[in-house]
Amino acid sequence: MIGTQYGDEGKGKIIDTINAEYKIIARFNGGPNAGHTLFHEGKPIPLHQIPSGIFYPDKLLYIGSGCVLNLEKLLQEIKDVETLNISLEGRLVISDQVSIIQPHHLFSDGKHGGDLGTTGNGIGPAYEDKAQRYRNLRLADLLDDPIRSKDNMIKHYNQIEPEIDVRVIVERILDFSQQLKQYICRNPTWMVKQVESEKNVLFEGAQAVMLDVTHGTVPYVTSSHTIAGSAYVGGDLPPKYHRKTMGVAKAIMSRVGHGPFVSEFGGNESERYCMTNGGKKYTTAYEQSHYSPSDLMRSLNFFDLGIALRMRGEEYGATTKRPRRVGAIDLVQLAYACKSNGIDELYITKVDCLQEFSRTRLEGIPYVAAYESLSNVIIPHDDHFPTQSNDYKHITPRFQYAAAFNENISSIRKYDQLPQEVKNFVSLVEQYVGCSVKGIGVGPSREQIIVW
Ligand code: IMP
Repeated sequence: MIGTQYGDEGKGKIIDTINAEYKIIARFNGGPNAGHTLFHEGKPIPLHQIPSGIFYPDKLLYIGSGCVLNLEKLLQEIKDVETLNISLEGRLVISDQVSIIQPHHLFSDGKHGGDLGTTGNGIGPAYEDKAQRYRNLRLADLLDDPIRSKDNMIKHYNQIEPEIDVRVIVERILDFSQQLKQYICRNPTWMVKQVESEKNVLFEGAQAVMLDVTHGTVPYVTSSHTIAGSAYVGGDLPPKYHRKTMGVAKAIMSRVGHGPFVSEFGGNESERYCMTNGGKKYTTAYEQSHYSPSDLMRSLNFFDLGIALRMRGEEYGATTKRPRRVGAIDLVQLAYACKSNGIDELYITKVDCLQEFSRTRLEGIPYVAAYESLSNVIIPHDDHFPTQSNDYKHITPRFQYAAAFNENISSIRKYDQLPQEVKNFVSLVEQYVGCSVKGIGVGPSREQIIVW
């Protein structure tokens, strides 16, 4: 299951709902840059590195070799999960081929990641060293050769920051690897064995198609492969076991960090605003004390509308708390993501939030039906979908409107009971993107999903 837009589509929640036939939930890319918030008895639980499915004691949770890990943060997450009386003993399995995030990765990302608006978790530098090879350290290295690992971490840190003594931090990382020992799997064919013994796997993608290091809006992307095909590389399983590909899209889109976002409400103005001070200025608290979303919702200015929708939809980063840039569902982009990843089943989250458009002065629910560029019009499934961030400079969205609905659908649990406008909206998405929608999210909790 992958995100089909710019991340934060609500994959964790869908996985929590449709996991009955799966025994293993596995991560194959990314690290602490990902974040999904699960709600347990009304309490939000942000998870970054542990796969979804923690609430189901029969599920195994696998962290594949394609991930990069911050060991300190992982231990903290395990502790947080344990405070809910949920044990991960015998359930959490981490490939010993996972690369670890070293102190110099965090330092470099903190210093240089701002231009791209990274999450600052050292993800890019960690993958960079994986490709560079000599500087890379995997969990296996920490366990098998702690002295060399320690020397390497100190040396590489001091090459870029000689002033700071990093020895204590490095010692702690080695200690964390020992504390995690019970979860670390030394068998590279563990996953194959599970599947051979009839255990179904659900791969949980982190980030999303448009943030893929090759197929996204380069260079404004993450540094791993986020697309469906990479699940088998980073998830340690041969592709012959593939059965189907699921995608998740959000009814009102969002993006954090810099980069192209055609359907963004307020366009460049919104990007500049959201990324002021690296995204740290216009926090939830700031917006709540300065704006009234119900007033802004009546504005015909898309920038105002974006703020109102962010506030109403609580679109603030789970990892960084940054305000997310918000936009209409972009069906040109979604069609590209579905086609290039062979999505068989699509889930659309936050469909309840579309009700907000009945409070606006717009003609209905906006969606992007085409891109207008200097020389042509790009429609869904067009061969000219932009692949370079420069291509986006001269693209403007062509909005169309679907009929709005003024009913709160958050307590509906059956497709038949949905207002006709919602059913029409779902059919419209299916027609544009060419794959079937299997379910929708109608609220933040795990129960608020309708699957058909
Ligand atoms: P990095 O992955 O921290 O290097 O950040 C690179 C880009 O990916 C930035 O624009 C981030 O905001 C974005 N990004 C990384 N992880 C996520 C995620 O889980 N959701 C949404 N955006 C993300």
